[in-house]
Amino acid sequence: MEIHFEVNGKACQMDVPPMKRLLDVLREDLHLTGTKEGCGEGECGSCSVILNGEVVNSCLVPACQVEAGTILTVEGLADGGRLSAVQRAFLEHGGAQCGICTPGMLMAATAFLEENVTPDREQIKAAIAGNLCRCTGYTKIIDAIAAAARGRFAAPA
Ligand code: FES
Ligand code: FES
Repeated sequence: MEIHFEVNGKACQMDVPPMKRLLDVLREDLHLTGTKEGCGEGECGSCSVILNGEVVNSCLVPACQVEAGTILTVEGLADGGRLSAVQRAFLEHGGAQCGICTPGMLMAATAFLEENVTPDREQIKAAIAGNLCRCTGYTKIIDAIAAAARGRFAAPA
């Protein structure tokens, strides 16, 4: 089927099998390989992208569901060469870990902070509960998200 959507601000139109996974459309057809496949079953969050303002597991979204949708992937976070506040915070606080889980963490954090101006650590933990890391733990990731929230939304001193 022919689908029309927007990815990272660019209009796309393509002919794809209706049940092709959004994850595969992004990686194979659009060469946006920043979005990673971990489990392929909706369990790990590595494939997270923001679809119409909501974080989704792109391994579970069929192409037919993105018709007329707006998608943000990890490639769309930076504005030109300038990293987003969330990306900078991940770098500065050691939240950027392996290449599999980090893109999904960034997308979950970005969507969360759009809706939560002054989150506490429990809210941050809940926001990334769908994103698994089996290696290094979550403390630095939570620190980074908290710092991004402060940086973006704190009232001037
Ligand atoms: S690859 Fe999609 S949730 Fe794990
Ligand atoms: S899965 Fe990425 S650092 Fe553990």
